[in-house]
Amino acid sequence: MKVVFLAPNYPPEMQQYTRGLADVGATVYGVGDTPVAQLHPSVRQYLSDYLQVPRILDEDDVVARVHAWLRGREVDRVLANWEVLVLTAARLRERFGLPGMSLYTVRGFRDKQLMKERVAAAGLRVPRALRVRTVAEANAAVEAIGYPLILKPIDGAGSADTYRLDSADQLPGVLAAMRHVGEASCEEFIEGEEFTFDTVCIAGKPAITNVCQYLPPPLIARTQEWISPVIITVRDLEQAKLANGIKLGRGVLDALGMGDGFTHMEWFRKVDGEAVFGEIGCRPGGAHLVDQINYTCDIDLFREWARVCCWGTFSAPIERKYNVAIIFKRARGHGRIRRIEGLQSFLRDYGEYVVEQKLLPVGTPRRNWKQTLTSDGHIMLRHPDWERTRALAEIVANDITMHAEQDG
Ligand SMILES: Nc1ncnc2c1ncn2[C@@H]1O[C@H](COP(=O)(O)OP(=O)(O)O)[C@@H](O)[C@H]1O
Ligand SMILES: [Mg+2]
Repeated sequence: MKVVFLAPNYPPEMQQYTRGLADVGATVYGVGDTPVAQLHPSVRQYLSDYLQVPRILDEDDVVARVHAWLRGREVDRVLANWEVLVLTAARLRERFGLPGMSLYTVRGFRDKQLMKERVAAAGLRVPRALRVRTVAEANAAVEAIGYPLILKPIDGAGSADTYRLDSADQLPGVLAAMRHVGEASCEEFIEGEEFTFDTVCIAGKPAITNVCQYLPPPLIARTQEWISPVIITVRDLEQAKLANGIKLGRGVLDALGMGDGFTHMEWFRKVDGEAVFGEIGCRPGGAHLVDQINYTCDIDLFREWARVCCWGTFSAPIERKYNVAIIFKRARGHGRIRRIEGLQSFLRDYGEYVVEQKLLPVGTPRRNWKQTLTSDGHIMLRHPDWERTRALAEIVANDITMHAEQDG
């Protein structure tokens, strides 16, 4: 089994997928823009060969270079788990005539308007939405959709350039701020709780299903610096509250023609219980979501994903043992982390529930909270009981504080 894996070294979790591929017996050919000498040693040992390209996001160039590089060699799969490369992988598969999702199918997971159209065509509930490319189109769309509404890039990530508008006087400012966005989606605003629906699929059928709750919804977490965003995997997927969302998720996979691999969907649960589609990608969720699922069941999805893509089988036991919460912290102030308050006492009292403590250590520069989903580090904890998990997460959110100061 010979696998071309795009970007095996970056983002960092890709190193785990590379290892997973090697674990299940694949010969891994990596393609990335990291210089060979800078590949993480733990990833280098799993690569049988590596092509360094000048710009991994230059699709035409990457396709041409990989094509030349592989001339005369046999390859069985081309895979990517980084959102910005899933279309490149599909193009390469088509070029080489390899199994896997087609370009047509993958487009349905990349273009937020197209995905909603395909999902709606299957009779599933999506926000009313229109594609807009110009100010005139935006004005017409706003008229048709009505307030409150969302304006967001057609292929955005991490809630970047995403705006909630409640009235017409906000429109000129938002349109000015979005001028650099080529294409946008104008959507009906859905009021409700926000969840994920995550899977690893074999031929579009989930071999494993996961749901997380976002507390609060990502757009709010992204807009208010003082919030510590919390994401919790839900242990009990059988509960009535989630039934509509899980049903919707399965329907979406069918509607979009999912094949093998990860999916990460987001959906809203309105107060009346209706589930509304948000968005979906044919790749894993970021910001340590796969680690959270692994801790939920004590399994290794990095490896199981590889087994699915190479051999069409999934062999981890799926017993949901825990709710796993990740709490992202943002330091107060600017500059370097100077002190962390409340951490020692939290670890003393509740350390048995903590699976990861990865707050930036004292002395490290703060991250730009607008540009990272992972803020100034995180704590991950788990407990079999949902309410208890939520309460513990709230303690971390409220009672642990990081403080930064400028040098000098
Ligand atoms: N139609 C909508 N109604 C309510 N909130 C929305 C809507 N669309 C997006 N959002 C909010 O904006 C966030 C980011 O939008 P999303 O489509 O998930 O893009 P991204 O790829 O940036 O995650 C969502 O998680 C949600 O909180
Ligand atoms: Mg999203």
